[in-house]
Amino acid sequence: MKKAFITGIGGQDGSYLAEYLLNLGYEVHGIVRRNSVPEHQQTRIDPIRHHLHVSYGDLLDISGLERLLRLIQPDEIYNLAAQSHVRISFDIPHFTSQVNALGTLNLLEAFRNTCPGAKFYQASSSEMFGNEIDEDGYQRETTSFKPVSPYGCSKLFAYNIVHNYRNAYKLHATNGILFNHESPRRGINFVTNKVAKGAVMIKKGQAKVLELGNMDAVRDWGHAKDYVRAMHMIINHKTADDFIVATGQSHTVREMTDHVFTRLGMDYREYVKQNPIFLRPEELSYLRGDTSKFNSTFDWKPEYTFQQMMDEMVDFWMGKL
Ligand code: NAP
Ligand code: GDD
Repeated sequence: MKKAFITGIGGQDGSYLAEYLLNLGYEVHGIVRRNSVPEHQQTRIDPIRHHLHVSYGDLLDISGLERLLRLIQPDEIYNLAAQSHVRISFDIPHFTSQVNALGTLNLLEAFRNTCPGAKFYQASSSEMFGNEIDEDGYQRETTSFKPVSPYGCSKLFAYNIVHNYRNAYKLHATNGILFNHESPRRGINFVTNKVAKGAVMIKKGQAKVLELGNMDAVRDWGHAKDYVRAMHMIINHKTADDFIVATGQSHTVREMTDHVFTRLGMDYREYVKQNPIFLRPEELSYLRGDTSKFNSTFDWKPEYTFQQMMDEMVDFWMGKL
């Protein structure tokens, strides 16, 4: 039985990945942070909690990471933990950098010192590109990185230190450069789930308006469930490498909002207002990923279209609220 160790197991991706690996027969370990209100912290993994081995741990606590990895001796380490909200990274840049950048270094050191034969996956991000776009309108593995947020800068450090550890210590350390991916488990302060929940609240008479920031931003949105399958393929590739995972199709925030409100029989223009507090000091305007390298290496097909993914989120909130 293979053993996996997942940081961020209670997050959107961590919970889907844990389910996926359990179904493949893995023994799945993960860490959650100590929280003074524990009852909501593990909501996403509650249904599978009794199949998991969950310990308290924090990317900032290297001694705890070393102790756990020494004990568990995992075959695969997935580093999904992060302060993952881009706008909030402008509010707490030091904390974001400590967790996302130095936290990754802590985990790499623990990996190198305790179980160097394991494989390592780093949750790298399309936010690292900033506003760099190739002439054909795509970002790919060879596009330059010029991040425009503390979050993007912290993820770029992590991406680079993974490379450094791969080359310097001959570790199997990989980067998945994933574009935005969503689901009903997405935090509700990310734009897709905020719009899905907000529109349903308006439909049900529980709210009158929805306040958003920049509706002209363009994103390449896929489904988290499809993307965790890609993570497993990347970490198990025979050589440690970096891969883009995306859909290759982009939509504006406005188009996404229009789709959600239209599905609920409403016109978003009657309900959506702009509030400057949701704007960012520097914005990443456009993302569209080229997955040629990934698709020519792996047999991966997404199960969800953009519309099916948004509809699933709307249906989730219609059932819940
Ligand atoms: P998420 O839902 O925000 O999950 C992040 C998880 O990390 C949470 O469970 C969080 O726990 C945990 N965490 C935060 N700080 C920690 C620390 N210091 N030590 C241990 N755990 C900590 O994010 P996600 O959407 O699943 O994304 C997973 C990873 O992929 C992240 O690294 C993200 O930056 C990256 N990524 C995401 C996307 C995307 O579109 N979703 C795209 C590219 C890359 P708490 O609940 O206690 O905060
Ligand atoms: N969150 C949010 N809230 N975003 C808004 C809002 C709003 O009210 N209004 C407009 N937006 C715009 C943002 O300005 C951004 O251009 C776009 O919607 C998407 O925002 P988010 O859903 O917060 O995601 P993100 O693209 O900033 O970051 C996500 O994707 C990255 C990969 O590119 C996160 O999941 C990151 O962790 C991930 O690395």
